[in-house]
Amino acid sequence: MYIHQRLDEVDSTNTYAKTHFREFPDGSVISARRQTAGRGRLGRKWLSGNDLDITASFLFRKLPQPFYAGVITGVAAIEMLQEELPELSPYLKWPNDIYIGYEKLSGMLSEAVWEKGQMQCVICGIGLNVNTSSEALAGAGQPAVSLFSLTQKQFDVDFLIERLAKIVNRYYIICQQYPQEVFELWRKYNRLAGHEIEVVDPAGKVMRGIFRDIAPGGEMIFVHEGRELLFSCGDVKIIAQSVKF
Ligand code: BTN
Repeated sequence: MYIHQRLDEVDSTNTYAKTHFREFPDGSVISARRQTAGRGRLGRKWLSGNDLDITASFLFRKLPQPFYAGVITGVAAIEMLQEELPELSPYLKWPNDIYIGYEKLSGMLSEAVWEKGQMQCVICGIGLNVNTSSEALAGAGQPAVSLFSLTQKQFDVDFLIERLAKIVNRYYIICQQYPQEVFELWRKYNRLAGHEIEVVDPAGKVMRGIFRDIAPGGEMIFVHEGRELLFSCGDVKIIAQSVKF
């Protein structure tokens, strides 16, 4: 059975989980009311409000492939949102962001823990803007929303994390027997697949093409100038605003 450790303050729940993973059973979650050095993908910072948002890290020891940490967490987060706010229409923006329209609600950061050449576990951290105000979101450096900015309602963050942990663990169990089922849900919630999009590589080069599909290994299959390219998650970033729904 997983456990949920709620910390008042920590530098980063991912860093904490990577250091303390031995103390927790599989599927456990470490969350924090306040992160002082939250980390995002590609070396970016992740800013979140003081006791306002979800900042939590899940620990997985038995995944079919490491990228399933993000698959399970992403599918679970979408379903938690559908359950609590059926009027919203969240989708996954490959690899692991959650968007509402053209604005970011949530991001995920997966990190593997290695020892003596052996992978011990994968940590998937999720930041989801819950009660942060529109004014504070304006400093996020990209168009961002929170559940509060979308609905003008306050949400119980502790309750949402508990729900998320339950759904994550349900999908984690399913994944161990039927990984394809969870993968197919992840593909379905990745609403940009099939669309014309723009991607930008870490050097800033922009390419326009078609997001054809997601490969079985989680990569994006991208068709650019008649050529099929396979991108892994660190390779490119999709420019959400380039998509016409
Ligand atoms: C991104 O969109 O760049 C990923 C953001 C991931 C943020 C979460 S918050 C909980 C966990 N702890 C961290 O330091 N980062 C992740």
